[in-house]
Amino acid sequence: MNTLFRTDLSKISASTVNVPMRKRMMCLNESCMDPYSTIMTSFHERMKDVRLNRYFSPVTDELHTKLTSYVGHQLSADHLLYGNGADDILYHIFLAVRESEQSFALSLAPSYFDYKTFALAVGLKVRFLDLEPDFSFDTYEYIRRASDPNCRLAILCNPNNPTGNLFSKEQLRQIITALPDKLVLIDETYYEFSGCTFAEELAQYPNLILVRSFSKAFSSAGLRFGYAVSARQTSRN
Ligand SMILES: Cc1ncc(COP(=O)(O)O)c(C=O)c1O
Repeated sequence: MNTLFRTDLSKISASTVNVPMRKRMMCLNESCMDPYSTIMTSFHERMKDVRLNRYFSPVTDELHTKLTSYVGHQLSADHLLYGNGADDILYHIFLAVRESEQSFALSLAPSYFDYKTFALAVGLKVRFLDLEPDFSFDTYEYIRRASDPNCRLAILCNPNNPTGNLFSKEQLRQIITALPDKLVLIDETYYEFSGCTFAEELAQYPNLILVRSFSKAFSSAGLRFGYAVSARQTSRN
């Protein structure tokens, strides 16, 4: 039958988020606390000057300056990319890496469930390497699977959602260096809870891209602000 939409997508039933609204929404990893009152006061103050009738410039100098200094490690504004939450960034990265019907992304499992959702949306396949019962994984097997010519993206969520564990930098470094021709995405959405980041090593690894979010440690899921950080070459070539 002729359908108006992609046949692979029209076979999928609508996703219903059937989560009862509770004070604490641990299942969505939302914070149960509002941002600090000083942040809220300043937010409301600044919003008074925002012209909602105007298209905004998504990249303000002030945002650039503050975020680059937050990320640190001698990065400049052109290492950053902003989006409507980390989800938006992930979606656009998936869109950008898909080359053919055989293209796939590799992720550990279990990991963030929406990798699959966004990949499916853009026609990118996802393959998984299962975590061991202690949440560790075999580095060599990961590298072996990512070395497949059709693997377009190697995803590692650190700390990992939903298991909450942190993989060692040494283990991740081994993967990044073993795959110089692959884009390696480290999802650092929960970075602030671990303090462990690859931001200081971006200059060494042009194949590395970090994804971050304001939704978790900054109690601002409703703000929908996420960003990616990478070496300049990754975004320009
Ligand atoms: C690992 C991971 N990445 C990305 C996201 C999406 O975050 P955002 O709210 O910034 O879109 C989540 C949200 O739960 C997450 O757990």
